[in-house]
Amino acid sequence: MPQAYAIVDHAYDVVVVGAGGAGLRAVVGLVEQGLKTACLTKVFPTRSHTVAAQGGISAALGNMGPDDWRYHMYDTVKGSDWLGDQDAIEYMCRAAPEAIIELEHYGVPFSRTPEGKIYQRAFGGMTIEYGKSQALRTCAAADRTGHAMLHTLYQQSLRHKAEFFVEYIALDLLMDDDSACRGVLAWNLDDGTLHRFRAQSTVLATGGYGRAYFSCTSAHTCTGDGNAMVLRAGLPLQDMEFVQFHPTGIYGAGCLITEGARGEGGYLVNANGERFMERYAPSAKDLASRDVVSRAMTMEVREGRGCGKDKDHIFLHLDHLDPAVLAERLPGISESAKIFAGVDVTRQPIPVQPTVHYNMGGIPTNPGGEVLTKRGADANAKVPGLMAVGEAACVSVHGANRLGSNSLLDLVVFGRAAAQQAGKTVTKGGAAPSAPKASEERALGRFDRFRHAQGKEPTAKLRLGMQRVMQGHCAVFRTGPLLEEGVRELAAVRARLPEVSVTDRSLVWNSDLVETLELDNLMSQAAVTVSGAANRLESRGAHAREDYPERDDANWMKHTLAWCDDKGQVTIDYRPVHLETLTDEVQTIPPKPRVY
Ligand code: SIN
Repeated sequence: MPQAYAIVDHAYDVVVVGAGGAGLRAVVGLVEQGLKTACLTKVFPTRSHTVAAQGGISAALGNMGPDDWRYHMYDTVKGSDWLGDQDAIEYMCRAAPEAIIELEHYGVPFSRTPEGKIYQRAFGGMTIEYGKSQALRTCAAADRTGHAMLHTLYQQSLRHKAEFFVEYIALDLLMDDDSACRGVLAWNLDDGTLHRFRAQSTVLATGGYGRAYFSCTSAHTCTGDGNAMVLRAGLPLQDMEFVQFHPTGIYGAGCLITEGARGEGGYLVNANGERFMERYAPSAKDLASRDVVSRAMTMEVREGRGCGKDKDHIFLHLDHLDPAVLAERLPGISESAKIFAGVDVTRQPIPVQPTVHYNMGGIPTNPGGEVLTKRGADANAKVPGLMAVGEAACVSVHGANRLGSNSLLDLVVFGRAAAQQAGKTVTKGGAAPSAPKASEERALGRFDRFRHAQGKEPTAKLRLGMQRVMQGHCAVFRTGPLLEEGVRELAAVRARLPEVSVTDRSLVWNSDLVETLELDNLMSQAAVTVSGAANRLESRGAHAREDYPERDDANWMKHTLAWCDDKGQVTIDYRPVHLETLTDEVQTIPPKPRVY
């Protein structure tokens, strides 16, 4: 029986969990409509991981050459390897220019062209005229675009009456027996109090779970807490086997070197000094999509052409670029290269390797941010009172592979759309629903169990075990036997979780307990990731099976849905991809071989 905790009760129209780009954009849209909105965040809003997004945000503004949102849509469908839902992709690409102008009006300090327009750079997989030539589509604030956006959105949310609950850890959703969400239970790290947030709508904006892997560009906080809460609520996650490896993480450190570096003219070479991307993607070369470039780099290393004494990485050259361009357009990565690789980019190449960067999968939603589940024959059944946005969500606009700079776009377009949708379903100042007792007791039971865990296994040791299994068994290239071994090894690590040791019993600033709760969250997401990958017998986007090297549209053009029970047992089902478009203005883009 858990300790009797005193719980502080709150009632809101909407509660948003997470204060990254998507959470803040939703908050801004909600408070602009006068909805009473709480935003819970485990770090100060401007420390959310969106702050680390570098290269930019895509939109067919056509500031630096011809462009059209239909070209953007085509590129995104192709980039997704035909797993993205075409209605949602149409929605996002069509809404993009307006979303950028809105950000500009909110105050984002974008870089400028000599005429004063928003500066746009080249990014991978972005073309004009349906693949004919490279597009300049990615709007940038130097190489600190996410930082600029996050600060601007936070300032906008403060202009209205958003109420922030900073350094609150969301523990679990409060779910009714009829599967409706009534709010969330949270723990205030600062004074150790527990809080019940009741709301007509709960919006999860909790980001990705990069930290399930050993090497990632994600912050230590990227533990996919919302995803895990959804699994514990008995709901599925979608397409979790699709994990993006960014080609240019700094070798050893994992920090991001933006794709914008290649957009500005940087290029990759192997140990022989060869620009090998010409062989793998003759047309787009270094600006092929991320899955293609990461595979090519891995092949070069595997075939003995890796750089360095261990022949295990690749070099990224920027030293041929004008130092003034580097200083103006890429100041942040020039500094990162110096700090984390000891490299002066004006004179030396940066050692890089593919590094986990983004989760295409997440909580299934419609374009209005409403969470979906499969109930009987209904593959699009809504979960009342629950919404999700940003990297936590799977709308699905990225399908099997996201294009660079479509993530920041996803955050603002669907953060805004979710706020609009909530405006239609939530009654301003209406009664917040009551919180179901059983669900709260379950959440408290889990919290209390970990708080008093007295085993012998340090959290960090179990986490390292999980991360090594994921890195070794579910990375750029996969095979059936390797994935099956991954499923078994992950289960073995998870079986040790009841033996975890939490030495600090305090409720105030107990980072030992926070990291243990996060580890539990990561474990269930790791399980659905590896199981989804083991089950998908084809290669598509970021999921490259050496034993099934071809894409198989006849059998596998479908989204994976994965449930995970308390013991880590995964159940898998599928739902159809939406091939139909939203309007008659565009036709379905039929699948074809994906070459760059
Ligand atoms: C980058 O700048 O390469 C990262 C941005 C993104 O992932 O879209």
